[in-house]
Amino acid sequence: LTLFCARAQMPATNYDESQVPAYTLPDPLTTIAGKKVTDAETWTSERRPELLSLFESEVYGKAPGRPEGLHFEVLSEDRYTLGNMATRREIAVYFTESDAHFMTILLYIPNKRTDAVPVFLGLNFKGNHTICDDPLVTESVSRMKPREEGGSEVRAKGFPRAAAASRWPVEMLIANGYGLATIYRGDIDPDYDDGFQNGVHPLFYREGQTKPAPDEWGTIAAWAWGLSRAMDYLETDEDVDASRVAVIGHSRHGKTALWAAAVDPRFAMAVSNDSGCGGAALSRRCYGETVARINSLFPHWFCGNFNRYSGNEAALPVDQHELIALIAPRPVYIASAVEDRWADPKGEFLAGVHATPVYELFGLVGLSGTELPQTDAPVLSGHIGHHVRSGDHDITLYDWRQFVKFADKHLKR
Ligand code: GCU
Repeated sequence: LTLFCARAQMPATNYDESQVPAYTLPDPLTTIAGKKVTDAETWTSERRPELLSLFESEVYGKAPGRPEGLHFEVLSEDRYTLGNMATRREIAVYFTESDAHFMTILLYIPNKRTDAVPVFLGLNFKGNHTICDDPLVTESVSRMKPREEGGSEVRAKGFPRAAAASRWPVEMLIANGYGLATIYRGDIDPDYDDGFQNGVHPLFYREGQTKPAPDEWGTIAAWAWGLSRAMDYLETDEDVDASRVAVIGHSRHGKTALWAAAVDPRFAMAVSNDSGCGGAALSRRCYGETVARINSLFPHWFCGNFNRYSGNEAALPVDQHELIALIAPRPVYIASAVEDRWADPKGEFLAGVHATPVYELFGLVGLSGTELPQTDAPVLSGHIGHHVRSGDHDITLYDWRQFVKFADKHLKR
């Protein structure tokens, strides 16, 4: 008997391992035509492109490339910030020739450096000024869902300064020799369903187009596109080593970080923290959040075609282990939290396990096992790092410390 939630007409959320349906994952190493992939060359030239294109057309949607008119402007610079430990820069990334549409990158660079530094790059939820208590960071214009019909999406009073500081250990990163670059995701596309009118999408509509086609970008793909545009800037900043940028994100931004790294090989490493459904978690396990649930709660995140798989995961031509595989041979870290059952910690772990054969094609170690490893016992040895932290859905100093250790192995000279 299937239980239905009265309100959403949706099967009840499954948190019972014995109720996980039997499933067969698509094989990352078999092409659509049925050919076995046995070497890295065939993976890179044949299988990877076809998988990437399936994820584009069926899951996240196709995004435009770098716009011709893209340009940058350093809006502010302060060489003595965070107790003189870091230089802060704020950079406008204008999406087109005009200066009307832009996002602002907040960048911290360690002052103690002999060379260009590796950088963690990630989106923030509430505004650049919320990530630490640096009083001179420009307040992001808070863009949220209008409270009522006709209300303004721009909140006169946004989030307080340092409201998200527990999630961004800026000083720890600086002390370890890393830069940090972050962007308020609302600058790229505000996080609510408005038929794709207020973010970057309309800048790229063809004549007469009013919304993305079913295989074109949703909001996650737009955010990932924004991260690539940030990379376009980072490539021009001489204090940044653009060949050592780790793209990172928590939760919906973890989904975004994985997709950004899959699409854009310039990212040297990816970190997914509690990314769950549509991120690292296998869709076919239907444990915690499901495709049906995410498409109904967040109809703007994925492309229109992804709706075909609501309650129909077996029909997906891909699963999320193949998203991890698209990042190979670059290092990827999958972090979970044991109480965050909505994100399916075991499903996130298994995606790493099932991406491993692709890493092995490159002669690299991925992740192994069939059961979720012990809590608070990070696995940092292979090219797929992993931990399950005790506690709930969040990104904490503990999580970041593991990411830094992993990055030290892969990005430090
Ligand atoms: C919701 C959503 C998740 C998402 C999370 C977050 O819980 O269902 O898919 O990861 O929000 O972004 O915090």
